[in-house]
Amino acid sequence: MIIEWNEEITSGIDEIDRQHKQIIGLLNQIVYFFETSDSSKELISSLLEFSKVIHEHFDFEEKLLAQYGYKDLKNHKAGHEEISDMINSVVMPAMLDDEADIPAEPIISIVRWFENHLKTEDARYFKSIKQKEA
Ligand SMILES: [Fe+2]
Ligand SMILES: [Fe+2]
Repeated sequence: MIIEWNEEITSGIDEIDRQHKQIIGLLNQIVYFFETSDSSKELISSLLEFSKVIHEHFDFEEKLLAQYGYKDLKNHKAGHEEISDMINSVVMPAMLDDEADIPAEPIISIVRWFENHLKTEDARYFKSIKQKEA
């Protein structure tokens, strides 16, 4: 397990928690395939799935934050866009060739970015939404 689920990263919003868990599962799977598999096929299929799921998640989360009138939405979105560019640069070659060589460096950065984003930027809106609902 690279990223572990815990209280600190639980939003209390069921659909958000479901999506975050799914993303963590895919990232853990990607790292696992990276370390253990000789073939890049499994790695690439997880990467493509991850890319689809995380982009859907960003859309969902941004809409939810807009609905709540979250004041830091602009910065939050900018963070999503930044990582989205990095994800696209890794996924593009994989879309063209299902045996493409995937470099380790950006994968590690993406995993670290997501973990950090969850614990800082996402955790900030969890608190803000909880306060509003209290
Ligand atoms: Fe986010
Ligand atoms: Fe998120």
